[in-house]
Amino acid sequence: NRILLVNGPNLNMLGKREPGHYGQRTLPQIVSELTHAAELLDIELTHIQSNAEAELIEAIHQTSVDFIIINPAAFTHTSVALRDAILSVATPFIEVHLSNVHAREPFRHHSYFSDVAVGVICGLGADGYQFALQSAVNYLNRAS
Ligand code: DQA
Repeated sequence: NRILLVNGPNLNMLGKREPGHYGQRTLPQIVSELTHAAELLDIELTHIQSNAEAELIEAIHQTSVDFIIINPAAFTHTSVALRDAILSVATPFIEVHLSNVHAREPFRHHSYFSDVAVGVICGLGADGYQFALQSAVNYLNRAS
């Protein structure tokens, strides 16, 4: 099985960026840990991070994976276009946030993705990506 990991704007700044909200780990560390875990589960994991909405949309259009794990970052709260992109490829996905968005500013409480996601993980830091991977595998095993 193949899974696409999508990380939205400013997540390239992890490690330096507001560590109280987002932790100390960098994106390359998170991606390499997740890639290693995926290999053990016989999953081919590909990753894109972009600060540009159009690049994320194009990457989703071009993919032909079985499942998507996405942290849309700030686009979570703004992007009908990214929501429509993920719906256009009809690929099941889990939404991940490092921070507990519900414990933060009200503008972070709404997501354009949650109502169409298989599930949502937030507030568990980088571990959330690992939990998402495990849940994606369970989902795909149930589906096959
Ligand atoms: C985030 C939460 C968003 O509100 C924020 O804009 C981000 C990161 C998170 O992972 O906690 O950039 O998605």
